[in-house]
Amino acid sequence: MPRLVVVGSTNMDLVIRAPRLPGAGESILGGPFGTYGGGKGANQAVAAARLGAEVAFVGCVGRDAWGEQLRALLAAERIDLTHLISRGGEATGAAVITLDPSGQNTIVVAPGANMALAPRDIEAARDDIISADALLLQLETPLEANRRAMEIARRADVPVLLNAAPARSLEPALLEMVDLLIVNESEARILCGLDDPRLTESQIAAHLAAMCRGHVIITLGRAGAVHFDGSLLSRQAAFPVESVDATGAGDAFVAAFAVAWGEGRETPEALAFACAAGALAVTRMGAMASLPRRGEVDAFLRSR
Ligand code: RIB
Repeated sequence: MPRLVVVGSTNMDLVIRAPRLPGAGESILGGPFGTYGGGKGANQAVAAARLGAEVAFVGCVGRDAWGEQLRALLAAERIDLTHLISRGGEATGAAVITLDPSGQNTIVVAPGANMALAPRDIEAARDDIISADALLLQLETPLEANRRAMEIARRADVPVLLNAAPARSLEPALLEMVDLLIVNESEARILCGLDDPRLTESQIAAHLAAMCRGHVIITLGRAGAVHFDGSLLSRQAAFPVESVDATGAGDAFVAAFAVAWGEGRETPEALAFACAAGALAVTRMGAMASLPRRGEVDAFLRSR
């Protein structure tokens, strides 16, 4: 059972289903509204735990009702929350999500307490990080906190997995600490600063591989995902499913690949496992609520 430390965000997702995604300046009437546990960090922690990893989560919520609800959701997944801080004076992170009938969404995040995660909070989790099989991070928490976590992991030879979402450009020194970078296509282009639409995903993956420590995955939505290890490109087609809500599917993919990697599986098998987890998440509402368990992913793969 791989032991993962996830450093990342926790949000309450406020989701409105709508007949379509509204344009700028437009008001439209939507359908049902619901609240769901979310945040890329918390989603990935839950997904990894449901897929069989032992998970410790490092993050920050506010001392408020949503913070308590999110803590309870994570605790129910048997995630080690010793380093989930409840910080007074900060509001728990929230994400406003609009969802169209095809399952596509728009998301705006108010990070709140997530941005109060400080390097000292990471220091407090040092022992967990250095004894982990991998460190997993995203970009919804402050870069100084991420940097400290990566430095601790790097010095202890713990592999660093970065899901560079939401997209932003990063300083080279940070990327140089990353063993495996996981991005979608638009995040990949922003990260490598190459805007030329003629560049293929394999060319972009090669460029990114040179910026980090060699392993890159680019997720391609309905086209699946590619993995580049510095010399070899592996490709996995997406599994066709009926899409209900794409929110959290990327998190399911990232966590599943991290778990499979931690188990020492070969890349093609790990990619298939990750694409299956992502596909299952798309078929259900919510982010955290949609994340599949190990048995479901194994059964889904057997049925293909
Ligand atoms: O990746 C999906 C997540 O992004 C949502 O749960 C939302 O909270 C945002 O962080």
